Amino acid sequence: MEPFAKVGDIIFIDPDDGSVELAPHDLWREDTWVGVTKLVVGDRVVVEIGGRLRLFSNTLTEPLRAGLTVEGTDSDGILGILSEKAIKFLDDSTEGALPERFIVPPNENLSFEDFGGYSDIVTRARELIELPLKYHDALNEIGARPIKGVLFSGQSGTGKTLLARIIANHADAVFYAINGPEVLSKWYGQSEEIIRRIFEDAKKRERAIIFFDEIDSLASQRSDESHEASRRVVGQLLALMDGFSPDTNVMVLGTTNRPQDVDSALRRPGRFDWHVDFPIPTKRDREAILTTSGRKLRLKEDMPHLWVADRTESWTPAELAAIWTEAALLAVSDGRRALLPEDYIGGYERVAKQRMGPRG
Ligand SMILES: Nc1ncnc2c1ncn2[C@@H]1O[C@H](COP(=O)(O)OP(=O)(O)OP(=O)(O)O)[C@@H](O)[C@H]1O
Ligand SMILES: [Mg+2]
Repeated sequence: MEPFAKVGDIIFIDPDDGSVELAPHDLWREDTWVGVTKLVVGDRVVVEIGGRLRLFSNTLTEPLRAGLTVEGTDSDGILGILSEKAIKFLDDSTEGALPERFIVPPNENLSFEDFGGYSDIVTRARELIELPLKYHDALNEIGARPIKGVLFSGQSGTGKTLLARIIANHADAVFYAINGPEVLSKWYGQSEEIIRRIFEDAKKRERAIIFFDEIDSLASQRSDESHEASRRVVGQLLALMDGFSPDTNVMVLGTTNRPQDVDSALRRPGRFDWHVDFPIPTKRDREAILTTSGRKLRLKEDMPHLWVADRTESWTPAELAAIWTEAALLAVSDGRRALLPEDYIGGYERVAKQRMGPRG
């Protein structure tokens, strides 16, 4: 006897009489894709979809040739021809210049002096990122497994993005910065293509860092509910990172404040398997962060950093840095052009209040 349903079929169960019925096949409509035919061999067709090649059989009555824009679904294959011409995923004007748009030039005003405290983290991060780029050949000769990806994790405002930018300034490498949410929204439907081209460009450089800020937004767990786009992006990233040859001198750096949301396949060996965790600063760190973030401000007297550091347990570096902004507002509203200790203390009190929330 034929089985009633196969694995993967959807069934309805009537709660009253317990009868079971097979749901119609088109109950959940599948996403259609758009692609470009690349090669036709007999009744088989290679289609490029979002930068990847897929093989389908030609179920259309019309003959197909390479260079057509077609639509289809994963289960039914090609459904029809949309255009006699191949659509470009990105318009011609951006084509050549595209990877370059993501390159961030070095910023002379940003150095390790702008990063207070966390000395162990700075040392470790530099070791994981700068050394492999600098001693690429030597490490290859030794035969060590290359470090391809490093993940900075830690709660919001702990300085992950700041440290990444400072290291980039220092590493003497071409630095591509990709902001996760932006690539998914602004470049919707083209994210994989963009990422692929950036990797292509980076591989040609002597040294390069590809930086994914807020990578969890791109590479969330590919669960069933997860966005189709982010699922494809993860697939693309995995393929690109696995495809590094021994000559490729590219480091992929990601930041996240939700490491548990970064797809586990990306955290496996040979991908983002090196982690640097940014904790909440200790008192000594807080004092250093306060000193550092106030370093470029015009101060009239010595500032009571220790006094503030004593009172800011569990504050993030971003919250500590915000004290200076509030202090400056207090000073100018008082008609001054330099900060006094009382502004600093006032700034601390204001941020402390905001941290407590509206009811605090
Ligand atoms: N170690 C530090 N020394 C001085 N200032 C710091 C330090 N860390 C962070 N800051 C300040 O906090 C701000 C926010 O830091 P940053 O954007 O790097 O945090 P983040 O960890 O990337 O946060 P998110 O996860 O929300 O992106 C910085 O722009 C800087 O002003
Ligand atoms: Mg950040």
